[in-house]
Amino acid sequence: MVSGAAGRLGRRIVARALADDRLQLAAALVRATSAVDGRSIDTVVGTDGGGLTFSSDASAIAEGRVLIEVATKAAALEHAARAAEVGAPILMATTGFDASERATLEGYAAKVPVVIAPNLSLGIAVLTDLVRRASKALAAYDLEILELHHNKKRDAPSGTAWSLGRAAAEARGQDIERDAVCARAGETGARGREEIGMMAIRGGDIIGEHTVYLVSDTERVELTHRAATRDTFAAGAIAAAHFLAGASPGLYSMNDVLGL
Ligand SMILES: NC(=O)c1ccc[n+]([C@@H]2O[C@H](COP(=O)([O-])OP(=O)(O)OC[C@H]3O[C@@H](n4cnc5c(N)ncnc54)[C@H](OP(=O)(O)O)[C@@H]3O)[C@@H](O)[C@H]2O)c1
Repeated sequence: MVSGAAGRLGRRIVARALADDRLQLAAALVRATSAVDGRSIDTVVGTDGGGLTFSSDASAIAEGRVLIEVATKAAALEHAARAAEVGAPILMATTGFDASERATLEGYAAKVPVVIAPNLSLGIAVLTDLVRRASKALAAYDLEILELHHNKKRDAPSGTAWSLGRAAAEARGQDIERDAVCARAGETGARGREEIGMMAIRGGDIIGEHTVYLVSDTERVELTHRAATRDTFAAGAIAAAHFLAGASPGLYSMNDVLGL
């Protein structure tokens, strides 16, 4: 089932799930007061929904049914708690959780398989690996991360920026929670050697762009990923749903899903 099914990403995942012969879409969950609650999913998604309607009935989260979560943060936390309680595998693709919320989500992995995926794209999984290697090899270089997203995004820096920062920090024996500097303004003083700067730009319908900069006095390395369409995330969500359907309880990432 897809939660946040009428959202920008959710509707692309619904369309992909409907087109996948090996999947059966059990439910398309929306907010209780949503204008599309009870309406046929065809009208929003633009493909034949086989008579399925959008629903706000969270009791659709049931044992053995994979929950693909792309709703807003508060709803995602509620749905994940229910999924863990009833035995439904969880793909958590919503972003913006703080450390304690993330720990709660990770805790559910003792009961059900959980994929936490701040980014669902194959390209970002590979970029993360490159960032890890480059950050270690160029350990003395200043590390900064820039991300760009559409003007409706609710959290900053993005979940992907945090996860790239975490990968880089771990490769250098640092702690992203301690060393992240989110945007700069005013009398900042000189840059600290261990700072990991994270900047966010918001505008229009930018789907998602991330650049990691590694900068020394003599050269600069830039590692960039640009999502061209939300279908790149939708494809990752479907791959994760297949993975979760056959997985044992435990905590997984997109690296596990993609076999990297
Ligand atoms: N992991 C990735 O690769 C990836 C990629 C892109 C986005 N994201 C993340 O996915 C999330 C959604 O992004 P988006 O751009 O699709 O945002 P969006 O268009 O705002 O979609 C979120 C949807 O969740 C709905 N919602 C709110 N409460 C709900 C509830 N109780 N039950 C079911 N649905 C509920 C919202 O409905 P209303 O509008 O009616 O409130 C909205 O349609 C964000 O956290 C974003 O950062 C992740």
